[in-house]
Parts: sequence; C-alpha cells; structure tokens
Amino acid sequence: MKGIIIFFSGTGNTEYMVKLICGEFQKRNIQCDLFNIENNETLKDEYDFYVFASPIHVEIFPNIFVDWLSKKLPEADNKRCIVLSTQASAVGYGGRQISKLLEKKGYNIVYVRSIPMPNNYYLGKFKATTEDKKIEMKNEAQNEAQAAVESFLRDDVYIEKESLYITELCKLVYKLYKPVLNNFAKKNLTVDYDVCIKCKKCEKGCPVNNIKFDEKIHFDKNCIACQRCVQKCPVNAFKYQGEHFNQLKL
Ligand SMILES: Cc1cc2nc3c(=O)[nH]c(=O)nc-3n(C[C@H](O)[C@H](O)[C@H](O)COP(=O)(O)O)c2cc1C
Repeated sequence: MKGIIIFFSGTGNTEYMVKLICGEFQKRNIQCDLFNIENNETLKDEYDFYVFASPIHVEIFPNIFVDWLSKKLPEADNKRCIVLSTQASAVGYGGRQISKLLEKKGYNIVYVRSIPMPNNYYLGKFKATTEDKKIEMKNEAQNEAQAAVESFLRDDVYIEKESLYITELCKLVYKLYKPVLNNFAKKNLTVDYDVCIKCKKCEKGCPVNNIKFDEKIHFDKNCIACQRCVQKCPVNAFKYQGEHFNQLKL
C-alpha cells in the first residue's frame, strides 16, 4: 500500500503536520510520499490513498490550494482520502468546502479534521499564540497525526461536523475579503533596508510571484497574505504599521 500527501503550507505549520502524518504511516511500514503543490510537478503515479492538507485562510482553504485540486488533481477510482486543515482556532471549514470537488473526481473521503496550530496572522484584532499554547499545540499535533492514521487504517469513517450553512457563508466572506488579501503586502508591508540583506528569499519563496526584488522590494496585487515573506525573512526585515514582526518559530 502506498499513499501521498498533497499539501500547501504558507509558513510551515501545515508542512509540520503532514510530516508527522507521513511519519505515522512510515512507522507502520506504509510508503507515504509528500507532494507540495507549489513544486509545479504533475502527479504521475496512482496511489492507494491520499491525504489533502492546507492552512485555513479566512475560515476556508485558500484559492491556491482549491484551484490546484480543481485543475490538476487527476480523477481517481474511489480512492480513500483524508482531508486536514491547520488553523489558529478550533475549527476551519475546509472539509465541507472541498468535499463535492473531491467526490466528483472519485475520491472517497473517510477522515476530515481541522487541527489547531499557532496563528501566523496576528495582525489587528487577531492575536499571536502564546509560547505555552504553541508547545501544547505541537504535542497535540503529534496525537492528531497518530489518531488520523490509526482511524484510517482501521477503516473507520470520521468526518468532523461542519455546518453547510457556515461553510457557504465562509466562502462568501472569503470572496468579499479576497481584494484585501490581494493587496495585503502592497498596502501594509514596508521593508527596513538597514536590516535587509538582499538575499531575495522573499522573492524566490513567494508562492504567487507577488514580489519583485529590483534594488528595492516591490509588491504586486496578487498577494494571498500567506505571511511567508514576513515569517521566513532570515533577518526579519519586514514591518507592519512601522513595527517588525515577532516571527513565528515552531
Ligand atoms: C490570510 C490568513 C487568514 C487566516 N485566517 C484564519 C481563520 O480564519 N481562522 C483561523 O483559525 N486561522 C486563520 N489563519 C491562521 C492559519 O490558518 C494558521 O496559522 C495555519 O496553521 C498556518 O498554516 P501554514 O503555516 O501551513 O501556512 C489565517 C492565516 C492567514 C495567513
């Protein structure tokens, strides 16, 4: 039996989670590959099972992930799959959001779970996760990974309850909020050039090519606000409302 985990991760939380899941399968001598949707590869092999994972942005999965699934995920013949999200609060509405899409493509969803992870979007009214809570979340992520894999291997079905009404509402909110996300960097970020080392990691790492580094950093208007540039800058050169970020370290 071999499986694959197809994921998007803006700043590393989801990647951390999927590596735990992968480890749980491998501990049981089950082959499990990781597939990052940003690598621009096509899925060639057929797998016996699939795991889909992404962070939650504005309560649902971001377009970058859903678009990949809708355009690039091949059809399958009733393959069992797990759907996971990571988000700062207890619940995200990703499972319900993509269930129709996956079912239409021939995937049989048997496990849906939203897993709390540290908040990478602590701006305005959204608060950063405390250090104690981060440790708790990391430990809990390990338990979640084990529970997901065990449930899957027992052939159980576990679908987290997600209201259809709330999911539809979240989709609408995401749509309305999208222009704010697209302009996030352009409107809100400045760069401290006394600190910047011109390594261009932000430009190379941006999942939507929204950053151009030409002596100075220029942002375009197709940002998805994933926070990778600000969280992963090796010298923490970005500023929001004049203040440097308190970068999230897992
Ligand atoms: C633009 C944006 C919007 C977010 N919206 C929510 C949200 O609505 N609810 C929530 O619980 N977490 C939200 N988060 C927090 C992330 O879902 C969470 O930190 C996630 O684990 C990040 O995963 P990643 O590191 O793989 O990108 C948001 C993060 C971003 C960047």
